[in-house]
Amino acid sequence: MELNTQTDLVARSLRSVWHPCTQMQHHAAHDNTVPLIPVSHGRGAWLYDHEGRRYLDAISSWWVNLFGHANPRINAALKDQLDRLEHAMLAGFTHEPVVQLSEKLNALTGGVLGHCFYASDGASAVEIALKMSFHAWRNSGLADKQEFVCLKGSYHGETIGALAVTDVALFKDAYGPLLRATQTVISPDTRRAAEGESEQDVARRAAADVELLFQQRGDKIAAIIIEPLVQCATGMAMHDPLYLKLVRELCDRHQVHMILDEIAVGCGRTGTFFACEQAGIWPDFVCLSKGISGGYLPLSLVMTRDDIYQTFYSSDVTRGFLHSHSYTGNPLACRAALATLQIFEEDDVLAQNQLRAARLTAALAPLAEHEQVRHFRQRGMIWAFDAIDAAPDFSRRFFTAALQKELLMRPIGSTVYMMPPYILDDAEIDGLAAGTLAVFNQVMAGQ
Ligand SMILES: Cc1ncc(COP(=O)(O)O)c(C=O)c1O
Repeated sequence: MELNTQTDLVARSLRSVWHPCTQMQHHAAHDNTVPLIPVSHGRGAWLYDHEGRRYLDAISSWWVNLFGHANPRINAALKDQLDRLEHAMLAGFTHEPVVQLSEKLNALTGGVLGHCFYASDGASAVEIALKMSFHAWRNSGLADKQEFVCLKGSYHGETIGALAVTDVALFKDAYGPLLRATQTVISPDTRRAAEGESEQDVARRAAADVELLFQQRGDKIAAIIIEPLVQCATGMAMHDPLYLKLVRELCDRHQVHMILDEIAVGCGRTGTFFACEQAGIWPDFVCLSKGISGGYLPLSLVMTRDDIYQTFYSSDVTRGFLHSHSYTGNPLACRAALATLQIFEEDDVLAQNQLRAARLTAALAPLAEHEQVRHFRQRGMIWAFDAIDAAPDFSRRFFTAALQKELLMRPIGSTVYMMPPYILDDAEIDGLAAGTLAVFNQVMAGQ
């Protein structure tokens, strides 16, 4: 059977592949509300199908791709690594890529988060941070600290533990009976500002909710988990850095760990390498994944403080963190991450992104001022706005219409967002803004 014709690939994929986060019937011929696009290859910010059509990857392939597809520098590093060591187990063994990566990440936190524990997907990193927090308290004689706190609208992944600290009904409700109860506090989402409230007022009000909970149950709570600055999956809900500073103080006062899930917002996405730098704080745990490997290979990790690490350090094996994954610290993934960090250093990426961000924000002015748009917002390399009175199928219709304009964009409900790779040139930035406006007008006119 031919492998490379477009229709053939779609039919075969629908017969044998169960696609993620998808109601498969939406791809069926009689219900074809969402097209399935076979990708033949990628180059830079573009993905190409088998019939020569191309799509600007405006969402970095689920927020992972930082420096484009088939990036020559990351490719070269991986080819070199392939001939040296593809994988070795990390228990009882170590290797240069994992050591170098841990050292570099440690240095990026000024040595505060000195120990890196590795896994593959984001959700695994969240599981690790939750387990580590509980176990660290247990090792410290505070075994009653077993509860976790998350924010309204939070998203931390799909595995059972990560889903328990997630607050997106669409993903969570079906599995409710399987999940541990979690305490949920209000979100500092600036869109929730009451009349006359500033963004900082919202941050203070949300922190007061945390304080109340900590006063009531602090002795039972192990950790609060937060997506710093932008709660992405709930619809790019942004908040003021003050919130993180206030919660950090509360965590210190009430002996509660602060876990920052920087899986989506880390690696420069919000303008600083770690989002929490904008609040001038470090948490007790940082989870990283997605962009850390440049979007090449599944790699996630949890960084933690030395005092937490020390609670596990003992002659007693059961006080150790006996967690593992077969591919923990995979050398290829670590090497891709090292190549990614090298690009940050060599290309002064954070400074260059400020120029890109200013240009795209200016180009998006017609959308920011559009009468059917509210809450236009931007932080670093994330842009979002909400469509007023969007139809229930807005997101699917936008996705399909965007493809016709060579754009890969998947709105979340009525929120349109952009999270492009950090390589767009001026023409691509202008094309993205003009295309988004055209698609938005088309979809809003047709509903
Ligand atoms: C903030 C956040 N945490 C965790 C995850 C889960 O990561 P993964 O899909 O790699 O398991 C995601 C994925 O979108 C995320 O945005």
